[in-house]
Amino acid sequence: MAIVFNESQRIFYLHTKSTSYIFGFLNNNLVHIYWGEKLLEIPDVKVCVPYCKRPQSAYNDPENIDIQPDNLPLEFPLYGNTDLRGPMFHAMYEDGSTISDFKYVSHKILSGKSKLSGLPATYGDENEVQTLEIEFFDEKTNVKAILSYSVFYNKNAITRHARYLNCSDKNVVIQKALSANVDFFGNEFEIVSLCGSVLREREIQRLPVPFGETVFDSKRGASGHQRNPFIALVDKNTTEDTGRVYGFSLVYSGNFVMGAEKDSHGTIRVSLGINPFDFSWKLEEGEEFVTPEAVLVYSGDGIGGMSRIYHRLYRENLCRGKYKKIPRPIVLNTWETMHFDFDEDKLIKLAQNGKELGAELLVLDDGWFGKRDDDTSSLGDWTPHPGKLPDGLSGLAEKIKAVGLKFGLWVEPEMISENSKLYSDHPDWCIHVPGRPRSRGRHQLILDYSNREICDYIISVISDILENADISYIKWDMNRNMTEAGSAFLPPDRQRETAHRYMLGLYYVLETLTSKFPDVLFEGCAAGGGRFDGGILHYCPQIWTSDNSDAHDRLEIQYGTSIVYPSCTMAAHVSKSLNVNTRRITPVKTRCDVAMMGQFGLELDIGTTPDDELACISESIKKYKEIRDIIHNGDMYRIKSPFDSNLAVWQFISQDKNKVIVFAVNKLFKINGPFINIRLCDLDGDCIYTDKERGLTYSGNALMNLGLYLKDNSDFESRVFLFEKETKKQ
Ligand code: GLA
Repeated sequence: MAIVFNESQRIFYLHTKSTSYIFGFLNNNLVHIYWGEKLLEIPDVKVCVPYCKRPQSAYNDPENIDIQPDNLPLEFPLYGNTDLRGPMFHAMYEDGSTISDFKYVSHKILSGKSKLSGLPATYGDENEVQTLEIEFFDEKTNVKAILSYSVFYNKNAITRHARYLNCSDKNVVIQKALSANVDFFGNEFEIVSLCGSVLREREIQRLPVPFGETVFDSKRGASGHQRNPFIALVDKNTTEDTGRVYGFSLVYSGNFVMGAEKDSHGTIRVSLGINPFDFSWKLEEGEEFVTPEAVLVYSGDGIGGMSRIYHRLYRENLCRGKYKKIPRPIVLNTWETMHFDFDEDKLIKLAQNGKELGAELLVLDDGWFGKRDDDTSSLGDWTPHPGKLPDGLSGLAEKIKAVGLKFGLWVEPEMISENSKLYSDHPDWCIHVPGRPRSRGRHQLILDYSNREICDYIISVISDILENADISYIKWDMNRNMTEAGSAFLPPDRQRETAHRYMLGLYYVLETLTSKFPDVLFEGCAAGGGRFDGGILHYCPQIWTSDNSDAHDRLEIQYGTSIVYPSCTMAAHVSKSLNVNTRRITPVKTRCDVAMMGQFGLELDIGTTPDDELACISESIKKYKEIRDIIHNGDMYRIKSPFDSNLAVWQFISQDKNKVIVFAVNKLFKINGPFINIRLCDLDGDCIYTDKERGLTYSGNALMNLGLYLKDNSDFESRVFLFEKETKKQ
């Protein structure tokens, strides 16, 4: 059984195949006891939870003055009960008080896992996942709280969220409602986060957890380029392959907070959820508030071990739809080649060239609609640009189909240009605060998705497009962050709900469209990788990883992204050299190899690409078609990090463990430099592995222990090794 309640101990055990998460009651306090390697039984709670009477700490049970919530590791911390650290829930009631006191009522253990109303979440059937729901009630305020824990036994992952139900006849104003809280005691940890910027997404940062609060958050209405909704606590000596790692990932695409609060006794409180900054939610009689889902992963096998758990779970239990398992098309995107400057003839020529190379789908990016000849107009007017597409989208789609490619389209349906018919018809349809100026980003404003009428309008517009032309793919872009976060459609006391209501609106639109058009592949995008999170992955199984397509920079961007997200979710394109963003020149083979580590695509003008480069791209496409299943459905091992060495090395191994592919790409060439040893992982030591291209055979043991020796010969050099396991043993 994954979930066990020991009645006599009053302890909950959440077991996965290799881990246990344990909490229970210390008198009336629900205390966190243990999370780590599998542990089937523990002694009494009083023995397992370290506590003592500390000077100046308050207590709420005069019979047990040594039980002071401020000093306990709590599973569901609240404000007002003498725990003075950050609470998981904080609300204001009709009498003006902000104290909550939820008491345990009951719990149930269920097979499977329910959907989270209106929110993206992991899913699994009754054989894969079991759920524990614990109900609490506050008798003074008549609010019910339900903490939900789902255990993916074989995947070694636990998800958590909370629900709050107003059973009173008065309003409750929620000011903070986080998804999960874990208090770690008695350990020094370091905190790993993914921070960056536009064109430099998800760099890995690792710092000792200091006393006080360490917060990674977003207040920009999207998860953002700057910080990803993920953190991990690791021991000081944890490496990529060894040591303890506690991962926290939030399945949410809006304003989030991930925090680590270290108190004066060294207890570290990790909490995560919707950012309470500029947030509140009025809960009326009978209404329920549901928090987003937090995904908790423990691995004793280093950061790589944690990543592989997230990869398997997100690939199989978060991404959905037809394209979850089947190979996805190799796209040829027009953006970096043509920007706004194209017509039908140019597009057809590009498609023909792409077809010859082996591309499978042409994506018409920005510039195809309204009067859009630059980025100053037309967002909202989703009708074909008459000067560029005389036969409309359906005419173009047919012509592309006749060339032998599928057809895909870029849209940015969360946005509105002031210079558009939609804006002149509905100037109040954008996010804004009446009476204040509306700040623009990339000349555009954001449509107010907190309003269902606007969401329904967008659903009908995009549905029309998809119903009237043969479109197999949509690139769903979002190119600016939220400012003046207010809505013309919400009353004053609900203005602070705007950002979360926007996300609920977006999820509603995406859910409706992806269910209505199950054959269309949706790719997420937000000025590159500005909304690369589990929320978007629930609707779009792949996301444009970054607008920076420079092969050198992509080593870091894709490496950082892979800390949480699997390779099959990362769109990666071969673009031209000089790179448009970095002005760097890199060899075409390197550009191809780096793109092969994700969802391979092309974003270059094939007509002006030199023949030798085209030959290399064509070969790479052939190779990619052979290996893409290994990359997308296999396990990934990061062998050398581009953040701390001149060489970046990744290994992918197929699910059946029979095929192994290694990518080794160096950055700047070190003249007369050393050989670098790379040792492979997860092989069968006794079996023989053959590298047919080089005519070499090794035993698994040799590859894992002796390894390969590489020396660089030039800048940005890339090497790929494909090993096939022989059936015979050594
Ligand atoms: C964003 C995307 C790009 C491209 C442009 C088009 O920047 O990230 O890939 O689609 O918009 O305007």
